[in-house]
Amino acid sequence: MGSSEEEELTFGEAEMNVFKQNLKGVKALMESGITRIPNAYVKPLDERPTKLSAAAAADGNKIEIPVIDLADLDGDGQDQVVKTIGEACEKWGFFQVINHGVPTSVIHSMMQVCQEFFDLPTEEKMELYSDDTLKPVRFGTSYSLSKDTVLEWRDYLRCPCRPLSDFIHLWPAKPSTFREVTMEYSKEIAALAKRLCYALSESLGLESECLYEVIGKHQQILMPNHYPACPNPDLTIGLSAHSDAGGITILLQDHVGGLEVFNEGQWIAVKPLPDAFVVNLADQTQILTNGKYKSVEHRATVNAQRARISISTFFQPAADAKIAPIPELLGGQPPMYRESLFGVYLRDFFTNRLNRKSAVDSLKLSG
Ligand code: OGA
Ligand code: NI
Repeated sequence: MGSSEEEELTFGEAEMNVFKQNLKGVKALMESGITRIPNAYVKPLDERPTKLSAAAAADGNKIEIPVIDLADLDGDGQDQVVKTIGEACEKWGFFQVINHGVPTSVIHSMMQVCQEFFDLPTEEKMELYSDDTLKPVRFGTSYSLSKDTVLEWRDYLRCPCRPLSDFIHLWPAKPSTFREVTMEYSKEIAALAKRLCYALSESLGLESECLYEVIGKHQQILMPNHYPACPNPDLTIGLSAHSDAGGITILLQDHVGGLEVFNEGQWIAVKPLPDAFVVNLADQTQILTNGKYKSVEHRATVNAQRARISISTFFQPAADAKIAPIPELLGGQPPMYRESLFGVYLRDFFTNRLNRKSAVDSLKLSG
């Protein structure tokens, strides 16, 4: 490492604390007129998105995650669609869905209202700002400002959706259509999640409602992300490598691109498809299926040209649910994971996040 590189990495703790105290999100930072990213965002070399060789990157560009057409999921071709989903879950833990039944108008309104939210004046968004990860509805930046030692190039909003009456009055009141549009979107996504959970169960030979009962019908958390264009996209990241903690995630992204999935030692770019959803399995599904279905690491890179919006919806078990491999799926093998309470898992997940997949690995039984 050259000496200039080392200088980049030495951002003192005191300096960082002052920086964090004054920060009002990455979008506001960019609007202040900076032309180079502050040192607070410079990731260590091995966490920067350029770590792959050019050859591997070129190779990765040719490989794509499966795109699954759900048109036949409730019709004659159901068995084939279920089988295709099962194969994607085993090999990738990630796939895109088209003809998924969510109306295009609902998708477009949701993207639009999220764009309008992030475009609000900084001070209005800051009214919802909190760095307390236990606060259910909040505007935030980076991942966890109090825990991150290097910041991430992302602002986000967090909106739990279930039960709706517990949370909707806490959602942003501006833009004026936010609550109505988000409510409609969250209902449509919930219906899609239910169909997907049924298909997942069927692909495993379980009763149709089995996975839905554990991962699909309890907590639903909507998280719109905004990744501003970045003057030094090679030095930082929008969201660093992680697997999702819950059961299943459904992501809507705009046309910009930046999501990457780790598959067989390579980062594979997920090509944005208009009005499609990216579906990925999360840690509790890996545990429930005893590792048959994978919760795969992914990350979001940023670019110099365009801001990007993505909208994640996380479906996860109830906090007091006990999660362990489903006995019918063991096929005579010993369980790979010990039982844990989802609420406890989530707490450890946030504490250990910088260690990539350590949360799920820590439940591995030896032998
Ligand atoms: C997430 C996530 C990816 C993206 O919110 O957990 O992985 O492309 N988002 O924003
Ligand atoms: Ni994720």
